[in-house]
Amino acid sequence: MAQKFTVKSFQEAKENNRKISMLTAYDYSMAKMVDAAGIDSVLIGDSLGMVFQGHESTLPVTVDEIIYHTKAVARGVKNALIVADMPFLSYHISKEEAVRNAGRMIKEGGAEAVKIEGGALFTETIKAIVDAQIPVMGHIGLTPQSVNAFGGFKVQGRDEQSAKRLLEDAKLLEKAGVFAITLECIPDKLAQLITKSVSIPTIGIGAGKDCDGQVLVINDMLGMFSDFVPKFVKQYAKLNVEITAAVRSYASDVKEGRFPADEHTFDMDSEVLKKLY
Ligand code: KIV
Repeated sequence: MAQKFTVKSFQEAKENNRKISMLTAYDYSMAKMVDAAGIDSVLIGDSLGMVFQGHESTLPVTVDEIIYHTKAVARGVKNALIVADMPFLSYHISKEEAVRNAGRMIKEGGAEAVKIEGGALFTETIKAIVDAQIPVMGHIGLTPQSVNAFGGFKVQGRDEQSAKRLLEDAKLLEKAGVFAITLECIPDKLAQLITKSVSIPTIGIGAGKDCDGQVLVINDMLGMFSDFVPKFVKQYAKLNVEITAAVRSYASDVKEGRFPADEHTFDMDSEVLKKLY
């Protein structure tokens, strides 16, 4: 039987050179499939703002929405570590508000850890959340909540100054007590250096193969989100094609009277029926 994956398992995986697999999920049915497939950790990412809600960025996502989706995911997960994203403005105003919001993810949502975007600027906030006994995953590189500050969704850490800053951020996050760090959209050689420079696991998305684990947005890897496909995504299925074809067949079956058939229909006693006329 598969064992429960915990924040301790993250550390053991790094120490034993075993790669960590992580995927997002936003609902019960998907979470159940992801967990049954043996994924180590499920992230209720604020990417749901784009792939589930249809916004152009993750910025509009609220704490209540993440909690709503986390509750659904938590009901479907048995073994994977459940990590909930802290959305934009849920940890920026004060440490107290950040701890309260992180606590709500755990207490109301059923998450086992939270993820926070940002480096040096947020280490004090992260320490306060960790002190409240809530495990925190860091997230640096292309942090989508900073899209306006970055001037778009761009690869980060390509020049010396920003690469040095990311390396420093990773070390500061480790000191602040995060149990792992997501590295998003940075050059693979920089991700490799960061991975070697910290004792906690790095989880890459668009950060090359040398990270200690990988995470993808499930809608991207299943080919369900067709607005754009980032370069770092490998599509393991093309569900948009399959789903559209299935829905087209259903619509045509309904129009042509082929659905429902006898096997989808409930009958009743003909004597009872007679009494209705
Ligand atoms: O919101 C999200 O899904 C994420 C992953 C892309 C790491 O933060």
